[in-house]
Amino acid sequence: MTDSITIRTPDDWHLHLRDGAMLRAVAPETARHFARAIIMPNLVPPVVTGAHAAAYRDRILAALPEGSGFTPLMTLYLTEDTDPEDLARAHADGLITAVKLYPAGATTNSASGVTNFDKVRPVLEKMAEIGCPLCIHGEVVDSDIDIFDREAVFIERVLDPIRRATPGLRVVMEHITTMQGVEYASEGGPDLGATITTHHLVINRNHILAGGIKPHYYCLPVAKREEHRLALRRAATNGDPTFFLGTDSAPHTDANKLLPCGCAGCFTATNTLSILAEVFEQEGALDRLEGFTSLNGPNFYRLTPNDGTVTLTKGEPVIYPDHIDTGDGPVTVFDPLMPLHWRVAE
Ligand code: NCD
Ligand code: ZN
Repeated sequence: MTDSITIRTPDDWHLHLRDGAMLRAVAPETARHFARAIIMPNLVPPVVTGAHAAAYRDRILAALPEGSGFTPLMTLYLTEDTDPEDLARAHADGLITAVKLYPAGATTNSASGVTNFDKVRPVLEKMAEIGCPLCIHGEVVDSDIDIFDREAVFIERVLDPIRRATPGLRVVMEHITTMQGVEYASEGGPDLGATITTHHLVINRNHILAGGIKPHYYCLPVAKREEHRLALRRAATNGDPTFFLGTDSAPHTDANKLLPCGCAGCFTATNTLSILAEVFEQEGALDRLEGFTSLNGPNFYRLTPNDGTVTLTKGEPVIYPDHIDTGDGPVTVFDPLMPLHWRVAE
């Protein structure tokens, strides 16, 4: 029986760090075990220019514990006014690693996102030319489309047409939640990658809705039926390099989660690696954990994997806090509803 596993230090290819007091509280949670992360730009107001990205990166670096080697990989929030030249300059300077597309209204702080995809055509063409990846929140926002169908419909109506119209554009399907997402990504060739969150490997929609409403399991894209969760688990653990970890750890204070109209997001930064090791062990795929957390992502982003390593050991159930305190109030840590036996050796 395996009771210890050493992997290259992981990266998180989709992370929300927020700003101010929240940033100072959550950044150390990720920096403890991860070397790099793609930082989501959905602040209020959003990170839309190279100058915003530089200033936000400096605030993140200032929030890290002393001696932390964590590198934030910055993104720009794509709007219908994004200047292709500013974007290209920020990319050439190494200031940004990717650009994020939110359909307007799809999720938290997405009001400045894209409504008319024709308007961003010149930017997408520039990105294809310079090799800057586009990270896509893949959900349509039409009120007549059922929320559980929004990812599958997006693939057909928006994603596939964009990719066909923009050859060479490198795309990450972010936080996929459906078997349709798995299927489309796995057939998309080397210019298409997909991230999978920790929590979507663990929960299905019953966890949110059965036996009382559970706001801490509500995130976007919303968790789907069990058959979709199983498809995600197969995709994450079968060794296909298309799929890599993007936790989408998205902290909101409990006060903002537990409202008549509560915020979407699961906060998993604190216990993500323990959960993933448990999931991969359950799938008989511990030997593929490193690919998912530490190799497939750098491979897609054309970066070298981290030099360092992280060792996980198996033992008595791990004790982790049920919430972390922030200057804005407590944030509940994702409860995977199972004992976790894998701890990161400090
Ligand atoms: C994210 C957030 O809170 O910023 N929420 C979420 O449920 N994942 C936004 C997002 O990634 O959709
Ligand atoms: Zn997110």
